[in-house]
Amino acid sequence: MNDADILNELIITAKAKFEQSLTPADLENAKAQFLGKSGRITEFMKGMAQLSVEVKKSRGAAVNLAKQAIEAALNERRQALANAELEKQLKAEALDVTLPGRLYPLGGLHPVSLTLERIEAIFGSMGFDIAQGPEIETDWFNFTALNTPEDHPARSMHDTFYVEGGTKNSPNLLRTHTSPMQIRYAVQHVKQHRTLIDAGGRMPEIRVIAPGRTYRVDSDATHSPMFHQCEGLWIGENVSFKDLKFVFTDFCRTFFESNDLVLRFRPSFFPFTEPSAEIDIQFQSGPLSGRWLEVAGSGQVHPNVVRNMGLDPEKYIGFAFGMGPDRLTMLRYGVNDLRLFFDGDIRFLSQFQS
Ligand code: PHE
Repeated sequence: MNDADILNELIITAKAKFEQSLTPADLENAKAQFLGKSGRITEFMKGMAQLSVEVKKSRGAAVNLAKQAIEAALNERRQALANAELEKQLKAEALDVTLPGRLYPLGGLHPVSLTLERIEAIFGSMGFDIAQGPEIETDWFNFTALNTPEDHPARSMHDTFYVEGGTKNSPNLLRTHTSPMQIRYAVQHVKQHRTLIDAGGRMPEIRVIAPGRTYRVDSDATHSPMFHQCEGLWIGENVSFKDLKFVFTDFCRTFFESNDLVLRFRPSFFPFTEPSAEIDIQFQSGPLSGRWLEVAGSGQVHPNVVRNMGLDPEKYIGFAFGMGPDRLTMLRYGVNDLRLFFDGDIRFLSQFQS
């Protein structure tokens, strides 16, 4: 075989070897067999030392051409392998932008929280402040300051959760209503305006609602040991039952988004109001139409309570009410078992996402 044949065959074998290489590492190994230090091309050139200059020249040129051809084949194969690798990677990481997105479930507010927000917004728009107070109360704020006599049944263990702490005369308890906030808020308000009041000036009116959790030893379809109340209090020099009627009617109509609703003030008794009334509402249309539904207790604040606020009952007068946001929520959404609100069943609660 002459040189040209040998070189041609080398090129063909090199190309074939490169084609058979399936990874870059294989390819580099194959390259070493031809172009490396002890590769076949290098070996071929080694034998040239003893040859004449003429032959060296022509052989050298032929070897260089062969070398170039092998290098070209090598580069081509390198490129092909790199492309294949890239293709593979693109395929593996392919994004199907036509797939539907994954939906994450959204949380929502508890129906009673929705009601409380509504109550706050409505009374807020009527100029009422919004106050929060402690759920662990003292006997003084929960009963005594509210003119509730020692022997009132609400003070018994059957009705009230007493908790550790407090003093013998004023033990701690879980508040049984939000009415203690009448005293707490008014006392703060009066303290703030004491100088003005003592100087015979005009005290800015007390106008507040106090929503929150309350507790009683009670549990059935319409009573839960923990429930919500929202207190309302308006005290000034000239606040009367007519204001209570106006405010509460306006509230109910806004809350239920209906003017087709009437209110009834039914005489009642609370130690801290005189006179006292239960407030009933009646829808004139819809599934509940015609039935009287009790929604709040109310009354003119008792003089003893006004005194405990630090004010002169001869000068200051007003009304208070306490309503049940749980009840309002049941009426608004047509729920007939109060316990559903506190069972934490997601199937029930997720129906209220607004
Ligand atoms: N605190 C009373 C109750 O829980 C409601 C009420 C509040 C009545 C304010 C009169 C005035 O039943």
